[in-house]
Amino acid sequence: MQNSLDSIKSLYRNPVTPGSLFLSIEGIEGSGKSTQIKEIEKTVQEKGLRVLTLREPGGTTFGEKLREAILNSETPLHPLAECHLFLASRAQLLKEKILPFLLQPGSVVILDRYIDSTLAYQGKARRLGYQTVLTLHQFDPLNLLPHRTYFLDIELETSFERQKIRGNVKDYFESQKQEFYQNLIDGYRELSELFPERILKLNAQKSIQEVTNLIKNDLETLLP
Ligand code: TYD
Repeated sequence: MQNSLDSIKSLYRNPVTPGSLFLSIEGIEGSGKSTQIKEIEKTVQEKGLRVLTLREPGGTTFGEKLREAILNSETPLHPLAECHLFLASRAQLLKEKILPFLLQPGSVVILDRYIDSTLAYQGKARRLGYQTVLTLHQFDPLNLLPHRTYFLDIELETSFERQKIRGNVKDYFESQKQEFYQNLIDGYRELSELFPERILKLNAQKSIQEVTNLIKNDLETLLP
């Protein structure tokens, strides 16, 4: 298993334009992604760089339609159907927005969820397996990995407490049971060990400010 994962991992290419940066941010509901994304935007803008923030699924006209179709689905979808819908949205986002933006030096893309969401949600929690999800990402343009992925790691109880406080209506994934969420957490933790050079696992049980500082310190090592 490990060997075949290694051979797939070696197929991925990194963004090519020197001086541009591709960042993704990952974590389950309540992990604080939106807050940290705003902080990253500020840091990047203060450096005089161009920044583009996008979310998945979505970010393009076509992708937003897919987002609606998935998150409001009243039919339980086959995991492979789910996976292909996310990948369709991703391929379009890469072609229309991410790749053209990254072509210009001094550009930073911040993406709210990317490949690790598919690995954790469809690969682990929906049991498709990492290998299947990685194999589907072999082809251009899906074979683009971020320079850095920030994984905001929280415990199950924290996620549920924060979800209760928010009190929003639950979508397709949010209405899943406790076991599903625990699998997501386990999945993300496994992924940060499978891709240690790319994924930075951050303890998001800490205060917002503490997490922001950890991200800022890391960004200092990455930004031009
Ligand atoms: P969203 O409301 O954007 O979630 P959040 O605010 O927690 O980021 O909804 C996106 C949902 O889609 C979320 O539950 C995670 C799920 N998802 C997958 O299952 N696979 C994927 O590849 C992606 C990108 C998202």
